[in-house]
Amino acid sequence: MRTIRIAVAGTGYVGLVTAAVLAHVGHDVVGVDVDEERVRTLNSGGCPIFEPGLPELLEESRENLSFTLDYREACADADVVFIAVPTPERVDGSANLKYVFASVEQVAEAMGPSCVVVVKSTVPIGTGDRVQRHFESLLAGTGREVEVVANPEFLSQGTAVQDMLHASRVIIGVESERAREIMARVYADLPSPLLFMERRSAEMVKYASNNFLALKIAYINEIANLCDLLGADIDDVARGMGADPRIGDKFLRAGIGYGGSCFPKDTKALHWLSSFHDREIKTVKAAIEVNAVQKISLIKRAHRYHSDFEGLTVAVLGLAFKPGTDDLREAPSLDNVAILLDAGADVRVWDPYAMDNFKRFYPDEVTYCASIPEALADADMCLILTEWPDVLSLDPAVFVEQMRHPLVLDGRNCYALDEMARHALVYESIGRRTVGTAR
Ligand code: UDX
Repeated sequence: MRTIRIAVAGTGYVGLVTAAVLAHVGHDVVGVDVDEERVRTLNSGGCPIFEPGLPELLEESRENLSFTLDYREACADADVVFIAVPTPERVDGSANLKYVFASVEQVAEAMGPSCVVVVKSTVPIGTGDRVQRHFESLLAGTGREVEVVANPEFLSQGTAVQDMLHASRVIIGVESERAREIMARVYADLPSPLLFMERRSAEMVKYASNNFLALKIAYINEIANLCDLLGADIDDVARGMGADPRIGDKFLRAGIGYGGSCFPKDTKALHWLSSFHDREIKTVKAAIEVNAVQKISLIKRAHRYHSDFEGLTVAVLGLAFKPGTDDLREAPSLDNVAILLDAGADVRVWDPYAMDNFKRFYPDEVTYCASIPEALADADMCLILTEWPDVLSLDPAVFVEQMRHPLVLDGRNCYALDEMARHALVYESIGRRTVGTAR
């Protein structure tokens, strides 16, 4: 079978993983981006983003994977062009498609006689049809043709490479047999089942899946808040629920709320889309509201101990929206640190990877600490916002040794209650009983 020539427009997190994996299975891949520095880094063997396994995959595929700023170089001979550019959130919550259409125009100019264009970016339902029509008007009279395919991504940061190499399913929305056949060839050497469907359905699968997972988290967080009040333990409740295969045990971890580049954006986009069509999805709206409140739930708890935070030293463990990434998008740390600083607290933060990114928001306003004990030194209160391995494996005695007043508010349920009860500290977590008593 002839190798497929693939261009990937956008070498952000999704485009880069897609390009690297498709090159890894033997296709000829060229990534194209408008960011000069990024292209230079990639062509000199570097990896501009933090993603486990990606640098190795890029290195291994250097022979059949290159990067360019020039759409013509990438697309002139391409059989398939993936569009993996960002679709940022607009003020009203809808997805901004300006980069998608800018990329479409450049592909139309640069492409050969025919190609399949695959939309990987997360886009509202019906965008594939719009992109198809736009190509048809741009190419009218040139004798060139495009078939647009919807192929949403389901990559999780931190496991993106494995998620693509061993996807539970690949969703492919096609409107023709030819597009179906070429997409089957693109994915032929990956082990995942291919689910073909119409383009609009494929676009809907993406939103429906991410929103469902966000709902699951919002639901378990609401149940946790009720557990708090009624004396049940959310870890046991989630264990009991998760043992039912109809529910499943994934995405039932109660905590400080979801963040990241997908769930917040995709819930708002689906809410906008459903409201726009007078079919508001009330459950999604509720998830958005629940999550916003959940993100600052530790602050509310902190107020039980301190009526105001002026002059308090507060340690914050974890800034990234989840472990395994340096990404701060929609991270609870941003909301919590803003409130603490505004209230006059002296904030000491620790995170193994995300501190450099945090400095862009707060260059001098917080104290950056190289270790957990340093962050806890003389603190009146500690907020745990990310369940990094170093936090999970921490000996709780360190809180007692280092802090002036060992009040630990854990937004990620990192420690066993029995273990915490052995130490002279006050420990509150999400949906579990409080350990220790306030002075
Ligand atoms: C998610 C989806 O998993 C992925 O399929 C999609 O394409 C992009 O969005 P990602 O944002 O990388 O991936 O992270 P994920 O591991 O899903 O976690 C998202 C957020 O939910 C994190 O803030 C995490 O802490 C939170 N979460 C997750 C919970 O609070 N509880 C859980 O049980 C699971």
